[in-house]
Amino acid sequence: MNAKSDIAPNPTLDEFRKVVRSRRSVRRFTNEPVPQDVLDDCLDLAMLAPNSSNLQPWEFFVVRTPELKDRLAEACLGQNAAKTAPVLIAVVARTDTWRQHSRMALEQWPEEKLPGIVEKYYSKIAPIHYNQGPFGLLGIAKKTAGLVVGLSRPVPRGPYSINEMKVWATKSTALAAENLMLALRAHGYDSCPMEGFDEYRVRRLLSLPEKGLVTMVLAAGKRAEKGVYNRQYRFNQDELVHYL
Ligand SMILES: Cc1cc2nc3c(=O)[nH]c(=O)nc-3n(C[C@H](O)[C@H](O)[C@H](O)COP(=O)(O)O)c2cc1C
Repeated sequence: MNAKSDIAPNPTLDEFRKVVRSRRSVRRFTNEPVPQDVLDDCLDLAMLAPNSSNLQPWEFFVVRTPELKDRLAEACLGQNAAKTAPVLIAVVARTDTWRQHSRMALEQWPEEKLPGIVEKYYSKIAPIHYNQGPFGLLGIAKKTAGLVVGLSRPVPRGPYSINEMKVWATKSTALAAENLMLALRAHGYDSCPMEGFDEYRVRRLLSLPEKGLVTMVLAAGKRAEKGVYNRQYRFNQDELVHYL
């Protein structure tokens, strides 16, 4: 496929605004299920989120079976959103899939000719940039080299540690979570992102991979009456936007 031929047409600002403005964190859902085709489309749209080096460091664990869902809701501290939603989705960031995904990026490059710079990036640069080595030692070496070279020119300042890899993976995964919530809204469904959960129990319950970080658990479904608890508000731009 030609890179230019798959660009979607321009959206209308009004429709975008409606999707964004009508998304609310919903804490009470009806028991109407979210159809499979809606979930499929929303997950496709979630996975179109921009992400670091297109390494797609996310995974989604969709829970609909009543027994597992009840136990997951309990691990979400029994929150109403979790207890009433017909589907719960654990949005998981992976710090350890970048190597495999680098290979997949080379195999699945969408154009006939793989540009040399792309080949070099995924086969030579990424394996150094994201690799922190045993006990994080390579990360420490990279940080030291970066401090020295950085005295005379701009250099990347990380990720240089396992913790920085967690931040790296979480940034992209949170963007996918937002896409997922907006996609649900555009389909006429609602969501509630939750970080109020017992991570240890969620990980065990879903048999999550060792290096998986539960960025959020999303409750999804149709909003019930009184599902939104209060009017939406945000602070003023003057407080938080800085033109320099
Ligand atoms: C990372 C994150 C974690 C959140 N965790 C919870 C949660 O555990 N329980 C909950 O009811 N809402 C949770 N929320 C929803 C926020 O409370 C909500 O987004 C905020 O109050 C603004 O309301 P709005 O989303 O309706 O605009 C979370 C939101 C985010 C982004």
